[in-house]
Amino acid sequence: MSAPATPEVVPLAQPVLGEAEEAAVIEVLRSGQLSLGPRVPAFEAAFAARLGVTHASAVSSGTAALHLGLRAVGVEAGDEVVTSPFSFVASANVILYEGATPVFADIDPRTLNLDPAAAAAAITGRTRALLPVHIFGHPADIAALEAHGLAIVEDACEALGARHSDGTPVGGRGHPAAFGFYANKQLTTGEGGMLTLGSAEHKARVDSERNQGRAPDMGWLDHDRLGFNYRLTDLQCALGLAQLERLDGMLADRAGVAGAYREALAAVEGLELPCEDAGGDERGWFVFVVQLPRGSDRDAVIAALRERGVQSKPYLPAIHLMSFYRERFGHRPGEFPVCEAVAERSLALPFFPAMSEGQVARVAEALRQALGR
Ligand SMILES: Cc1ncc(COP(=O)(O)O)c(C=O)c1O
Repeated sequence: MSAPATPEVVPLAQPVLGEAEEAAVIEVLRSGQLSLGPRVPAFEAAFAARLGVTHASAVSSGTAALHLGLRAVGVEAGDEVVTSPFSFVASANVILYEGATPVFADIDPRTLNLDPAAAAAAITGRTRALLPVHIFGHPADIAALEAHGLAIVEDACEALGARHSDGTPVGGRGHPAAFGFYANKQLTTGEGGMLTLGSAEHKARVDSERNQGRAPDMGWLDHDRLGFNYRLTDLQCALGLAQLERLDGMLADRAGVAGAYREALAAVEGLELPCEDAGGDERGWFVFVVQLPRGSDRDAVIAALRERGVQSKPYLPAIHLMSFYRERFGHRPGEFPVCEAVAERSLALPFFPAMSEGQVARVAEALRQALGR
């Protein structure tokens, strides 16, 4: 008897890479200039133009972009930075890199972004900056946060393609805004990031600090400030330029997959889907994260999905309850109840531009079975 055929795995994420990307990378290889070459400013200029900002600096990751953004607005040891506990850990870690303290504030239960009222209540005399996160590509309420007159550094790592209700692209309001280009993102360079900026002074500082603190008019080994190696290579920038060319198509495909999921999952009792756009805000689709019905055993659901060839993962855990943050700051469950309730039930399903309707149907059916609905 032959073994039953194992179903083809539906992966969590899958980049769109084609001939254009291949040609772009090969061209750089043949040019012999793999770093500090012309593709870096070309990618920065194209990205800045796309977002309607005056400046952009390409860096080695979204984390590096956030770190240099915080330094640009003057965050220093002893400062406090108000941020969301419902994020990827990097948005809090970068605050610690500078010896500052992440002060968490709870999230809005609909958008899952920093709740402006909670953020306002967390501001003290030591608050140097606010670090809102556009989680899952949904625009955070930056206008409400601007009312405090504090520096803002936006974590837009998941939000390329999103728009605020006034039509401004997320990351285009002039605050330092960090984007990430890891392989699961809307646009990928393998690893990589971009910091959009509204000030020439910030741009000069970021460009120096990503390159070991070198000033533009100094020789290679002369450095006038502390810096890092956060450079993005020409190979990666060439890949980024090719991806930027096809970005509109990839974003539209992601939105299409999200629409198909909404239809396929609408009737699953107790399952909560990502919030719909409202009030003119537009999500830049990055992941499709559902809230499992209350009382579900998430680990069992993940295992049942895996058996049916469907990848999934809890996304995201609450940062303040991660062991490092608990030990360092003494955080305990109950501090941010909205975030904690969401983090306990959230599950990311496979989501990528080339996902077929058949794959969406398979995931939906597997989830229904896993939940026993
Ligand atoms: C919200 C958020 N912030 C920061 C990052 C860090 O980006 P990177 O992995 O490129 O350093 C990510 C990446 O997954 C993210 O999702």
